[in-house]
Amino acid sequence: MRELEAVETVGVVGAGTMGSGIAQVAAVAGYDVVMRDVKSEFVDRGFDTIRSSLDRKVNSGDLSDDDDADAAVERIEGTTELAELGEADLVVEAAVEEMEIKQDVFADLDDVTDDDVVLATNTSTLSITTIASATERPELVVGVHFMNPVPVMKGVEVVVGEKTDSEVVELAHGFSEALGKETWESDDKPGFVSNRILMPWINEGVRAYDEGVATKEDIDRGMKLGTNVPMGPLELADHIGLDVCLDATETLHEELGDRYTPAYLLKRKVDAGDLGKKTGRGFYEYD
Ligand code: CAA
Repeated sequence: MRELEAVETVGVVGAGTMGSGIAQVAAVAGYDVVMRDVKSEFVDRGFDTIRSSLDRKVNSGDLSDDDDADAAVERIEGTTELAELGEADLVVEAAVEEMEIKQDVFADLDDVTDDDVVLATNTSTLSITTIASATERPELVVGVHFMNPVPVMKGVEVVVGEKTDSEVVELAHGFSEALGKETWESDDKPGFVSNRILMPWINEGVRAYDEGVATKEDIDRGMKLGTNVPMGPLELADHIGLDVCLDATETLHEELGDRYTPAYLLKRKVDAGDLGKKTGRGFYEYD
């Protein structure tokens, strides 16, 4: 496996919202980046997104000045040729969320990159194990699931496929940290931690609106004021993209069926009297 210390050039597949965000944070962290998309206008749009995000970072004082922003952009090479990812020491794929497309991309990456290069996917719900099966190096395939907007959100979910080598998992954590992120780890189960929990929340917000429980504004206000989340479910769905939410929810539905009956563990804990903070123990323990 190519160690994190040997990584100088990061390949990014996809220049959309997630791909351009990943390219940006990698370049700001000092990596050379090759950002590839299928059409030059997509690559150009990716650069526009990066420039405006960096402008915000400069204006808010997160980046010291325009020179740092310019230097980051300089470190990113845009291309429509997948073969140019051959120079990458690590690749992060952020193409569309379709298994067939991801498997094609991974089969191609397997051909064009050196054999010891780790291939990471930013998939939000698809199986890492199935994506990895399109390659001859499933042990070097791992999930690094960035959150949107990538330049702002602190967290990255590291997802461990059936065959992912433990050193590769460590590299995924280390790489994310090198980009200034904090990580958590999930097994390769549908939706991982983040979307398995987030998507039913959003879905229920949509249902509540559809069934006339409250206005859309009051649903979002209620969840923000009532639970201190930065965005309510409907605003957040708009932020993520309704298509992304629908795709993710359909995958979860296919894999997991009806998730809306009370979880068995919830019933068991209540039966046991573990009611949360008020009893000193729920899912966590309290003094
Ligand atoms: N680069 C890119 N976008 C930026 C940015 C930057 N440097 N700074 C701010 N933004 C974006 C915000 O997304 C938002 O977008 P629009 O312009 O399209 O409205 C806008 O700028 C708001 O900017 P503000 O300065 O007002 O930012 P804020 O203080 O209101 O915080 C936020 C914005 C950080 C997004 C905050 O609202 C938040 O944390 N929301 C929740 C986001 C979230 O949960 N993301 C995870 C989604 S789940 C996911 O990504 C996984 C998946 O698989 C679906």
